[in-house]
Amino acid sequence: MLSNLKPQEPDKILALMGEFKADTRQGKIDLGVGVYKDATGHTPVMRAVKEAEKRIWDSQTTKSYTALAGEADYRDAMTQMVLGDVLDAGRTASLASVGGTGALRQGFELARMANPAMRVFYSDPTWPNHVSILKFMGVEAVPYRYFDNATRGVDFEGMKQDLAHAVKGDVILLHGCCHGLTGANLTLDQWHEVVAILEKTGAIPMVDLAYQGFGDGLEEDAAGTRLIASRLPEVLIAASCSKNFGIYRDRSGILIAITPDSATRDLTQGAMAFLNRQTFSFPPDHGARIVATVLTSPDLATDWRAELEEVRKGMLQLRELLAAELRNLSGSDRFDFVAHHRGMFSRLGASPEQVKRIKDDFGIYLVGDSRLNIAGLNNDTVPILARAIIDAGV
Ligand code: LMR
Repeated sequence: MLSNLKPQEPDKILALMGEFKADTRQGKIDLGVGVYKDATGHTPVMRAVKEAEKRIWDSQTTKSYTALAGEADYRDAMTQMVLGDVLDAGRTASLASVGGTGALRQGFELARMANPAMRVFYSDPTWPNHVSILKFMGVEAVPYRYFDNATRGVDFEGMKQDLAHAVKGDVILLHGCCHGLTGANLTLDQWHEVVAILEKTGAIPMVDLAYQGFGDGLEEDAAGTRLIASRLPEVLIAASCSKNFGIYRDRSGILIAITPDSATRDLTQGAMAFLNRQTFSFPPDHGARIVATVLTSPDLATDWRAELEEVRKGMLQLRELLAAELRNLSGSDRFDFVAHHRGMFSRLGASPEQVKRIKDDFGIYLVGDSRLNIAGLNNDTVPILARAIIDAGV
C-alpha cells in the first residue's frame, strides 16, 4: 500500500538547509532558514531560558499529563504578552500548540469546523508552508497582493483591492509583524484601514505572530494585532515562541481566539481542546513550562526582555550596515529598503538566476525568492554579501 504514496515536493526552506549542510566550501554563509544566530554563527540558548530550565528541574515533581488545551499559566501569560491591555478574559479562548505551525494548523482546522466552505486569503508572497498546509487540507487559498517589487515595500492599494473581495466566512491570514517572507510591514494607519475592510466584509482575520519582539519591540510588534483584537468580534491569532524565546526545537506556540461573547468562548474552547485530542492529545509542555516560568518570574522576565532587545538591536544594526555598504557599492539609495524592513528577513527582489549566482559564485544561501535572513550575517559577512549582490547584477 505504501508504494502508492506520491513523492512530495520538499519544503523550499528546509531543502535549502540540507543543501547548505552538504556544501563543503569554506566561508559559505547561510541566510536561508529563519533561525537567529549571534556574531559567531551560533544559535544560543537565552539566559532566562537556561535559568528557567534549572528552576523547572529543581521544582518539577511530575511528568504526568497536562490539560488538553495546555496549562492555564502558560496560556494566560502568552495571551497577556500578545494582547496586553486589550485582553478580555471573558471573550478569549486559547490552546497550547506544537510550535507556531501547530497553532496555524489548529487555527485553520477550527475555522473549517465552523465553516467547511471557508477560503483563506494569504499575502502574495507568504511563508511557503502557509499555502502548503492549506493545499494539503484541501482548503481554497486565495492570494492577495502584498509586496511591491519596485519599492520593496507593501503594495497597499493592491492589498486593499484584493481583500475587499473577501466575504463573511472567509479567513484573512495576516502577518502580525516582521512579515515572514519579505520584511515589509504595514504601518499602524494601514492596520486601521485593514480593520475597516474586515468590518465591511465580515471576513475573520487570522494573525500569524511568529516574530514578536524582533521588529520594533515587544509591545510595538503587537500593535496591529491588538488593534484588530480591540475592534473585531472574532479574531484568531497563531503565535510562536520559537524565535523570541529561542526554543525552536521545544515546539511551543499558542492559538488564541477572540470571540464575541462568553458563550461562544466556551464553545470555542471546547472545540479547540477536541482538536488537540484528535491530533496528538496533550500538547508538549517542556517549552511551555519554560515560557510560563520566564514570563511569571519578574527577574527572568526582565532579563529575557533585555536579551530580546539585544537581539533585536543587533539585527537593526546589521540592516543599517548592509544598507550603507550597498549604498557605497551601488552609488545609489536603491537598497535603503533593507534598513526600513523589520524582523529577520528582507526580500531583495532579485531574480531566481541572481539568487543562484549568489549561491554558486559566493556560497551565500538565500531562499529562492531572494529572502535573506539578516540574523545570519555579522560585521565580517555583510561586505561579502553586499559585493555578491552587486556582482550578481541585482
Ligand atoms: C522560516 O521561515 O525560515 C522559519 O519559520 C523556519 C521554517 O519552519 O520554515
